[in-house]
Amino acid sequence: MNQHDNTFSSNTSLSDTSFQSDMSTSQQSARQVAVKVISNILLQQGSLSTQLARHQTEVASDHIPMLKELCFGVCRQYPRLNSIALHLLAHPFEEKDTDLYAVLLLGLYQLTYMNTPDHAAVNETVEACRLLKKDWATKLMNAVLRRYQREADEIVALLEAQPSVEFNMPKWLVKRFNKHWPEHFEQIIEASNTHPPMCIRVNEARVSRETYQAQLVELGINSEEGPFSGSALYLRNAVRVGELPDFEEGFVSVQDEAAQLSAQLLSPKAGEKVLDACAAPGGKTGHLLEKSNHIELTAVELEPWRMEKIESNLHRLGYSAQLICADASDLDAWWNGEHFDKILLDVPCTATGVIRRNPDIKINRKPADIDDLVIIQRAILNKVWTTLKPGGFMLYATCSLMPEENEQQIQHFLAHQEDAQEVALNSLAPDKQIEWGIPVSHGRQLFPNLEGHDGFYYCLLQKLA
Ligand SMILES: C[S@@+](CC[C@H](N)C(=O)[O-])C[C@H]1O[C@@H](n2cnc3c(N)ncnc32)[C@H](O)[C@@H]1O
Repeated sequence: MNQHDNTFSSNTSLSDTSFQSDMSTSQQSARQVAVKVISNILLQQGSLSTQLARHQTEVASDHIPMLKELCFGVCRQYPRLNSIALHLLAHPFEEKDTDLYAVLLLGLYQLTYMNTPDHAAVNETVEACRLLKKDWATKLMNAVLRRYQREADEIVALLEAQPSVEFNMPKWLVKRFNKHWPEHFEQIIEASNTHPPMCIRVNEARVSRETYQAQLVELGINSEEGPFSGSALYLRNAVRVGELPDFEEGFVSVQDEAAQLSAQLLSPKAGEKVLDACAAPGGKTGHLLEKSNHIELTAVELEPWRMEKIESNLHRLGYSAQLICADASDLDAWWNGEHFDKILLDVPCTATGVIRRNPDIKINRKPADIDDLVIIQRAILNKVWTTLKPGGFMLYATCSLMPEENEQQIQHFLAHQEDAQEVALNSLAPDKQIEWGIPVSHGRQLFPNLEGHDGFYYCLLQKLA
């Protein structure tokens, strides 16, 4: 196991049975389940969101907020906690003891960032070793945490010189952000390290933003209008979706404001044939239909389990579309040869603009992922382009801050695709002023904003007739 460069790799993940609990009941404590979730993330067995979805049923529902706090917290603070843990340990744990490393990270997180009394955090950490049937580690864990209690200030001051600790971000990402966006570096770091605001999208086909905002006020939920998307409301305090009026009836969805710009920019009109090429979980699919329910919409998604999310999202909103589970770059597998008027291509990416929503990126993302994703994006872009009508429009989007995936990807595409041209982002919605993000060599780059939208990239392309 190599904790230094985060390259844990294993075919083993902590299943329900491998985590032996003294509690014979099916429900475990939030902390026990957090150990599983964090271990599996360290072992690269899946993302934080998939691990949480899989394991949160193992705790009582009133413990889910605590489970999330622990898991999101450890991921968000991972660069710091990892440095502290490695400093405290004489020898890193072996890979088979990744669960113990997760226990240690959770203990350090409680001691540093939570209100848990110190003695309780230490005792719970030691107890966690016992529950894992690794009693041999209890003395070590006790000694390590007690030392941290005594020397925390000195240790943190010493480690602060490391960029990963100073900025609470993997060193390679610090370097990339600084290299590509020196003027926006501080904003990117600060916004990526905080809790994101809760932004909702009002379904304007059902209710106006003003009316919905007034309904929220009646329930004591205060919000501000998003400045860039006509359907966005930022809630001053996050609430459970069940508390949002008419959520189940599809009057409102949770979606970041930058993501809401897609449907605004593509501006689908009745009768148009529209493709949403990388569609799950379907946030933008639903928004396209809210803009016009009379479009002929096809949504393509590679992952069957993610396809189910599109289905349930559309079901809640009361819309339907042709859903196809396929690799968008494998046209033989899904395309019937009929061209589309408009295409939304929201490609898989490094998600470096949404680290605050997916903080496990700090653990799992590697520099090599950029090159791998650029190749996948290029293949999808080139193939899907052939399904666009001459004169039709394609909106290319990512939630990445890496120029390789954004302006450079488009640069390469335009250099090789003779029938493609970049057009102004508001070509399809000329009444909308583009006042967000910054112009880059092709398209516009948005950076994550402390109390506003996520990091995103958009470029609008037209196929020459
Ligand atoms: C950035 S997400 C899309 C988010 C979505 N547009 C939304 O707003 O809810 C990218 C999606 O592309 C899917 N994907 C990845 N490779 C794909 C491929 N070759 N063909 C189709 N979908 C793919 C991923 O599974 C993921 O669901």
